[in-house]
Amino acid sequence: MWSIQRILFFVIASIVIAECKTINNARHEVRKFPGNFRFGAATASYQVEGAWDEDGKSENIWDHITHTNPCVVKDCSNGDIADDSYHQYKRDVEMMRELGLDFYRFSLSWTRILPTSFPDKINEAGVQYYNNLIDEMLKYNIKPMVTLYHWDLPQKLQEMGGWTNPNIIDWYSDYARVAFELFGDRVKDWITINEPLQVCYHGYGDNSLAPLLNIKGVADYMCAKNLLLAHAKAYHIYDKEFRPTQGGSIFISLSAQWHDTEHEEFADAAKDANEFTWEIYANPIFSDTGDFPEVMKKRVAAKSIEQGLYRSRLPEFTAEEIDYIRGSSDYFGLNHYSTKYVYRNESVFGYYESPSFYDDMELVTYTKNEWKIGESQFTKFVPWGFYKLLTEIKEAFGNPPVVITENGFATYGGLDDEDRVTYYKHYINSMLDAIEDGSDVRGYTAWSLMDNYEWLQGYTERFGLYEVDYESAERTRTPRKSAFVYKQILRTRELDMHYEPDTDVMTIDKGH
Ligand code: BGC
Repeated sequence: MWSIQRILFFVIASIVIAECKTINNARHEVRKFPGNFRFGAATASYQVEGAWDEDGKSENIWDHITHTNPCVVKDCSNGDIADDSYHQYKRDVEMMRELGLDFYRFSLSWTRILPTSFPDKINEAGVQYYNNLIDEMLKYNIKPMVTLYHWDLPQKLQEMGGWTNPNIIDWYSDYARVAFELFGDRVKDWITINEPLQVCYHGYGDNSLAPLLNIKGVADYMCAKNLLLAHAKAYHIYDKEFRPTQGGSIFISLSAQWHDTEHEEFADAAKDANEFTWEIYANPIFSDTGDFPEVMKKRVAAKSIEQGLYRSRLPEFTAEEIDYIRGSSDYFGLNHYSTKYVYRNESVFGYYESPSFYDDMELVTYTKNEWKIGESQFTKFVPWGFYKLLTEIKEAFGNPPVVITENGFATYGGLDDEDRVTYYKHYINSMLDAIEDGSDVRGYTAWSLMDNYEWLQGYTERFGLYEVDYESAERTRTPRKSAFVYKQILRTRELDMHYEPDTDVMTIDKGH
């Protein structure tokens, strides 16, 4: 006879086994990385530097919104000091050595280098800061991977329309040229722009990032066109004028989250979600045909006409522009965090404000409760989505070489970050599955080296391998459990799903 205890035992045991299967679905328990695979960690200027008005730096759009409208940020904070990396860069490099990084991805602050926004005045002190950082890294053989633009546009350029003004193509590429001239002798990996979707949709078509413009379904598309042309111009300048002597690479980082569906009938909606959110930027650069995706062009054009406009809100490219943008990236820089499910039924028509990007997409996204691990809602745990995304990039775009330029997990702080460890192990494992199945992934970058200013979330969401103490003047950095796990991966060039660090004391390995 089955006693109630036995039944309970079997029920609980099967739940635990099912849980373990979803969490522990690794193809192998210990697996090697390809021989030339490279590992790094990333940050961005406004998120870590601080020194917002020191030594001649002028105001950018994040200085501006956080000073004029502080409580648009969750904790009413700003990046005035942030992690104080402007003064603590030697400690930053020490952490890179502790982890054993091959490269460090950081971004340049446009207004620190060019306080007028233009190349008429180069701020020597700002240049010196980046020279110090780069030289300190190179002393220990840590390669700089430099993002030219990670969201901190000069405020003056914003006042002239920012990314909606076609002159930005020259403003941005002049700045890029200055950076190649100043640092290109030592920087061999350039990222033109970080996450066009976030710049254009969140900044211009919504109010979730500076400049909080929220001109829906219009400004976001104007931005998309100018941004792609600005990126391509920087690429061509580097390719023709600098690459022959400096010999580096230059590429763009796209944010791509995977969209999938639980029901076959919504497969088209999931496809559209991928098109609108990341193929809008991937297609012009990485496809054989170039240009914005067809479905998107047709949908926005038809809706625009219905809305009484004379032309599509999604601007067109000329044939020359399509050519100019196509092929303008040496790698597919990929920032990936999570996955969403999608559906489309009657209820979505007329649901969103019109016009808007979401009204154009005509779908609803959602996530599953079981994808939440840890306290934060920010980053859901869906490692298989990473595999599917990498496979889609391989299949849709002719297997381009990919560098993962960001991947990471948010917590609310604490050194024992077991959930982050779970996230990293399983996402890296999914990436290895994709590599095993033919994806050409060349490198992986953890976001982030340390906690930092998480945009409108202020200091509430923490992404760091190192915890930063914002109460201390020097912004003390302390390694989390995930830092030790990442270090072990880099040290062994192996992913061991069961590895548990046996120390909480960081040291620098020989040779670093
Ligand atoms: C951005 C980072 C940001 C991270 C976590 C990425 O979209 O490039 O600046 O901190 O996501 O939200």
